[in-house]
Order: sequence, then C-alpha cells, then structure tokens
Amino acid sequence: MKTTETAQVLELPQGAVYEQEFAVRCRYPVYFTADAFDNDNPVFEQALCQAEPGRRKRFAVFVDSNVAACWPALGHQIAAYAGVRSESLELAASPEPVPGGEQCKNDPALVLRLQQRVDELGIDRHSYVVAIGGGAVLDLVGYVAATSHRGVRHVRLPTTVLAQNDSGVGVKNGVNAFGKKNFLGTFAPPHAVINDASFLRTLHPRDRIAGMAEAVKVALIRDRVFFEWLESSADALHESVPAATARMIRRCAELHMRQIGQGGDPFERGSGRPLDYGHWSAHKLESLTGHELRHGEAVAIGVALDARYSVQAGMLPAGEDERIYRLLKRLGFHLWHPAMEMRDAEGRLRILEGVEEFRQHLGGELSVTLLREIGRGEDVHRVERDEVARAMAWLRRRETGL
Ligand SMILES: NC(=O)c1ccc[n+]([C@@H]2O[C@H](COP(=O)([O-])OP(=O)(O)OC[C@H]3O[C@@H](n4cnc5c(N)ncnc54)[C@H](O)[C@@H]3O)[C@@H](O)[C@H]2O)c1
Ligand SMILES: [Zn+2]
Repeated sequence: MKTTETAQVLELPQGAVYEQEFAVRCRYPVYFTADAFDNDNPVFEQALCQAEPGRRKRFAVFVDSNVAACWPALGHQIAAYAGVRSESLELAASPEPVPGGEQCKNDPALVLRLQQRVDELGIDRHSYVVAIGGGAVLDLVGYVAATSHRGVRHVRLPTTVLAQNDSGVGVKNGVNAFGKKNFLGTFAPPHAVINDASFLRTLHPRDRIAGMAEAVKVALIRDRVFFEWLESSADALHESVPAATARMIRRCAELHMRQIGQGGDPFERGSGRPLDYGHWSAHKLESLTGHELRHGEAVAIGVALDARYSVQAGMLPAGEDERIYRLLKRLGFHLWHPAMEMRDAEGRLRILEGVEEFRQHLGGELSVTLLREIGRGEDVHRVERDEVARAMAWLRRRETGL
C-alpha cells in the first residue's frame, strides 16, 4: 500500500454507521398423515429429502419415553424404514428416550446430556434431529437442536392433540428456568413437521381433552365459524371420534400457522402476543400448581376467566361468557383449581403476578388479548385486579357452587 493510502485508512472519520440488512426466508411443510413409519408411507423420507434431493440424510431420533412405552415396536419400525431407503436415509443410532411430560423442561442436566448426545452421534448442520413426542419433549429437543452447532436441522413428529394443533407447528422451543416457563428458548423454524394421527390412539383421555383448549382459544380470537363448529361437534370431540378430532386439529393448526406466517411478527419482536389469549393466568397457574395442571387445562381456565372479564369490561356481549363456559364443560374441562386463590404474605392473589410476568416475557407495554366478540380478539393494555377477582368469583360459583 502506498503511504498516502495508508494515511487515508488511518484517518477514517469517527462515528460512521454501516447499515447491514438481509432477509432470511423461512418455509417448512406440515404433513398430515397416519402410520408415518409404515414402509409404504413416503412422507418421512420426503420431509427429510425435500431440500438437497439426492444426498443421503443422516438423522438421530429423540422420543418421548411415554410414546416409546406405548409403541414398543417404534424403534424397529424406524430402523426398518431407514433400512429399505438406505440410499437416501441413514439412522445414526437407536432412538434416544427422553422423559415425557413437563418435568423434562425443568432439568438443566437433561439439556446438557442431550446436547452431548447430539455431539456423540456426529449430528452436524447437514444432519437432522428428529423429535417424536408431546409438546414438552418437542420444546426441549427443539431447544437442544437449536443450540447445538448454533442450530441443526430439526424435524418434529408431535404426538399429542396440543402439539399437533399448536406447539408443534410453530417456530418456538424452550425450557423452564428460574421458576419461569420457557425462560430459555429460541425461535427456530423446524425443517418439517409430520402430524401422524395414529399416535393419538394411545394418548390418555386427559391429554386428548387438554389439547382442545387451544382450538377453543384460537376460534375465539380468529374464527367464529370454527367456534360454532366446535359447539356442534362438542360431543364427538369429547368422545375423541377420530374424524372430528382430525378436523379440529387441522383447522386449529391452520389458524396458528396463518398467524405466524402472515401476522407480521413471527418472532414476536413487538409487544403483542396474538395467540396467547387466556394465557397470562394459564402460565402462572401451571407454575402455582407445580405443573400438576397440564398446559391445556390451565389454558381452558384462562380462556373462561378472560371471557368473563371481557364481559365485565363491556367488550363482549353479556351471555357469550356463559356460552364459552358451556362449550368448555361439554368438551370435558374442569375449570377450577384451588391454586387460583393462593395469596402472598400481603394477601394479594398470586395469580395476578401472571400479568407482570406476561409483560416481562416480551418486555415493552403490557398487551393482553380479550374478546370483542366470538371470533374476534382485541388487545388491551391494562388488567384491573378487582375485575379479575370478580371474574374468578363468577367461575368459582359455577364450578364449586360456592
Ligand atoms: N413452543 C410452543 O409454541 C408451545 C405452544 C404451546 C404449548 N407449548 C408447550 O407444550 C407443552 C405441553 O404439551 P402437551 O400438551 O403435548 O403435553 P406433554 O408434552 O406434557 O404431554 C402430555 C403427556 O402425554 C404423554 N404422551 C405424549 N404423546 C403421547 C402418546 N401419543 N401416547 C401416550 N402418551 C403420550 C407425554 O409423555 C406426557 O406424559 C408445555 O410445555 C407448553 O408450554 C409450547
Ligand atoms: Zn398455549
């Protein structure tokens, strides 16, 4: 370099700003199928091979322990499936069991153990982590995949109603930490999602019911016709008639995907949490009950509570709260838990801590969705404590007669 050029470089003015800008396009298929590991079913192979066809895909499987127990042949089936497609698929090892249920999100040692397993199995950014399980296991394994090698490809096979109609088709993962739900986590779109209806056959009735809370929730804020269909199909849904369950899951998944894809804020950078109607109290109730309540069960309570609150706030026409309550009851929900009345040393209702925790999770202004009408949510930026207490009293009377 000539001396004059060197001098120019050294004399760069202070305070320059370079604007860096680029966009990353996200796209992933959500398949609806049955018996995904039947040798004749092409979906799983398609899911892995949709990008870079022609290259052999190496994959490791992590499976919810309760799913593994209910489906003892699953490991052999996956090995056989990969075996007949050995030109395109390579199974890294036998499926790794992961303890099923919410407690798996409360164990930091488990996160490390699974990250170590990803390393041991030589899973790199051109390989795939496949997770089979309920929403809790998918959240945990998704987090492990997103944090290993700064993000390896991740394929989900959700096995509960809730995971198939909501959590599994979205872009979030996470584990609980410091007593807070999903405190550690990432936004990481999956490579593909496979909703296999067969898995639902072994699901406990409690979990079949719990998952429907998200369908009621999304119908209330987005789709009146879907809500009316839920009302007219409530008996079939309560009895888990497969055709009704399948239709409910599809519409619910579709509405969640539309919000994420077209809502303008897939990674939740703003203050709004448009899919979290009924969730400010639900998340708090989950922790107040030590996760004795399932996510869906807590959401159903939150949905009923915020429906009543919406009426009290003069937003939702009177009587619509009763209608929402009746639907939840027909679907089989229990809408009261003693933890709702837990108080702190100063006598304040602990459930109300959920409002501030809800705000903190995103930061910025508090934004809580209430109902303007069935099928249309509306954000408000204040929650009145006394009105929450009144709405709780309304719900308690209906559930306990007291
Ligand atoms: N990431 C997101 O966007 C998002 C959205 C909503 C909920 N979630 C999370 O999802 C979790 C709840 O998920 P969930 O309702 O699926 O509960 P879950 O994962 O706790 O599963 C419920 C129970 O069913 C078992 N199970 C799962 N599939 C089974 C099957 N086919 N047969 C028999 N047993 C089976 C599980 O082992 C568990 O014991 C919560 O942690 C919640 O925070 C995440
Ligand atoms: Zn939810």
